[in-house]
Amino acid sequence: MAMNTQHFLTLDDLPANTLKTLIDRAIELKTMTRQGQIYEPLKNKSLAMIFSKSSTRTRVSFEVGMRQLGGGTLNLSPNDTQIGRGEPLEDTARVISSMVDGVMIRTDEHAKVETFAQYSSVPVINGLTDDFHPCQLLADMQTLQETRGDINGATVAWVGDGNNVCHSFMNAARLFGFKLHIATPKGYEPDTALVTQNEGYIALVDNPNDAVANADVVVTDTWASMGQESEKQERLTDFDGFCVDAALMKKADKDAIFMHCLPAYRGMEVTGEVIEGPQSVVFQEAENRLHAQKALLEHLLT
Ligand code: CP
Ligand code: NVA
Repeated sequence: MAMNTQHFLTLDDLPANTLKTLIDRAIELKTMTRQGQIYEPLKNKSLAMIFSKSSTRTRVSFEVGMRQLGGGTLNLSPNDTQIGRGEPLEDTARVISSMVDGVMIRTDEHAKVETFAQYSSVPVINGLTDDFHPCQLLADMQTLQETRGDINGATVAWVGDGNNVCHSFMNAARLFGFKLHIATPKGYEPDTALVTQNEGYIALVDNPNDAVANADVVVTDTWASMGQESEKQERLTDFDGFCVDAALMKKADKDAIFMHCLPAYRGMEVTGEVIEGPQSVVFQEAENRLHAQKALLEHLLT
């Protein structure tokens, strides 16, 4: 088993000061890219990408990010590899990591990325599991820093499902020092162990109005994540009253921004008016996946 390899399975894999340095670096790399500077510290390096779930942003940002840094990617889907035919992850991890410089994985159970990392001799990056989406939070923290100037001391309102993105927001609240007010319908609260771990930074409420009061950021996500398609109808009923609409945004700070990791479902978790409105930063947030992950790749692979 490979020890001492730096992975990124949750935000907690990196110290808070390193995470903050990554955000500053992401902003720098964004400027360099905009200026057309060629910067290729990952020349001849390869990142294997294993997607067991769909992706637009994560796929494109890692692919283009590696290319801009001078390296390349391999797109592996379980169906085209022996993973789909049941080769043990322990074997797959040892084989793939013997030939590449990093591995990005998007899958269902979080334990799978942990097992892979345990047997990988190169850094493993979590590109979303059922429990966490740490790369999303790097881009979100970059976006918050770009728009507000300072993340520390901000108030963020999460309205919706206590899901993987919500869990990573909870860790971010502690590591970046902001308050997170979480409003979910009953039965859709985030993981209780994470609630305890992030005590002092988060507050659970069952009413979206209470969560958004004076918030600097209002954030939501789909009501039915990948893998929960069969619960969609039931969730539509259960999440009644949790749509982020203009009336809810008015209760937040007047300069509040609206964030969403995307893909978004207009008329469900957010109205078209809010996501297309002046407070929405969702496309800046999506672009920042590229810059934030380039900072992460530079940190992990050089
Ligand atoms: N936000 C996000 O991870 O998007 P994709 O599912 O398109 O990668
Ligand atoms: N919570 C969503 C995020 C998609 C990027 C999901 O897991 O499907």
